[in-house]
Amino acid sequence: MNRKIILAAVVIMAVAALFFIVPRSARQTGGTTALVGPNIDLAKGRALFGKNCMKCHGPGAQGSGEGPPLVHRYYEPNHHSDAAFYLAVQRGVRQHHWNFGNMMPVPGVSQADVRLIVGYVRNLQKEAGIY
Ligand code: HEC
Repeated sequence: MNRKIILAAVVIMAVAALFFIVPRSARQTGGTTALVGPNIDLAKGRALFGKNCMKCHGPGAQGSGEGPPLVHRYYEPNHHSDAAFYLAVQRGVRQHHWNFGNMMPVPGVSQADVRLIVGYVRNLQKEAGIY
């Protein structure tokens, strides 16, 4: 009987220890790994954004009548990691935060293009003091 209690206690402690040891970021879905490094060409990112995303996300990613602003705390890196941008472009986005409808995949935008776009958007988010 006592043994069972001790065993249960050990298991509980092990699980609790794991919870503290595993870094917070690894437990969050999507992770927070930044795919965008420094030295991003902001002018290129801006041009690509203008061509492919601005129609809906607005000039300076401030939003438009067809899509939400990406310079918004919803889209800071801890909530929408850089990977979320790749997925949005590749697979589209089902409406969930706003009432603009779904975002369709954006064809013809490569991973390298998205990397530049994310660099541009992260820079705007930083300038706006979002993170
Ligand atoms: C035809 C309109 C349209 C275009 C073009 C568009 N988007 Fe979107 N996007 C949306 C809408 C609408 C949402 C919001 C969906 C919601 O959460 O309700 C969205 C959401 C997103 C999100 C959030 C994804 C998530 O997981 O919640 C990201 C990131 C994003 N867009 C990036 C981009 C990028 C980068 C481009 C250009 C390559 C782009 N979008 C082009 C309409 C568009």
